[in-house]
Amino acid sequence: MFDIYLASSNKHKALEIEEFLRGIARILIHEKYTSPPETGESFRENAIIKAKTLSHIIPEELVLGEDSGLVVPFLGGAPGVSSHRFSSSGDDEENIKLLIEKMRDAHDEDRKAYFVSYGVLMKGGKILWEGEGRVYGCIDYHQQGEQGFGYDPIFYYPPFKKTFAQLSREEKNRVSHRGAMLRQLRKFLEKQKEL
Ligand code: IMP
Repeated sequence: MFDIYLASSNKHKALEIEEFLRGIARILIHEKYTSPPETGESFRENAIIKAKTLSHIIPEELVLGEDSGLVVPFLGGAPGVSSHRFSSSGDDEENIKLLIEKMRDAHDEDRKAYFVSYGVLMKGGKILWEGEGRVYGCIDYHQQGEQGFGYDPIFYYPPFKKTFAQLSREEKNRVSHRGAMLRQLRKFLEKQKEL
């Protein structure tokens, strides 16, 4: 069983990650961690920035940095690495409103989008594992559903004919970007005796 410190103060994220790694790793939050400015130009860079910040505080421990966001090719890749602060307030509802507004002239074929989750496992500032998960869907014309967070109410997932906010947590976990990333991490950890 590994103890992995998550470079985040988001308890929801920690719980979600712990569910995927159950039986193989415990996910812990470190009280001294404060989010660094996410100045990277890619999800990978930001995941590394987060992991390095925490690894600096606890160099002898395993740490996991994760960065995620929504990519809309019609908008040149926006909101991308700025997903959580797309609108000036950074509020989920405002971010969604701004995205709907920017997609006003987008036809069905322009509405393709995907979520990305990038994970970096580190110890002593050294990367031990890294991986990316994605899920493809499209930007809906209006919000639907009450579950989830962030852009879930306007991320339509064709195989289920529902938005992510209309899925149960279990359904979303089965197909989500974070799930895809964490399943790879789980496989890696299962092959390790010690780290
Ligand atoms: P992070 O905490 O820096 O990784 O910010 C990720 C941002 O991307 C969140 O604040 C959301 O706006 C968006 N995001 C990431 N994953 C999801 C998801 O599963 N559903 C909806 N929005 C997401």
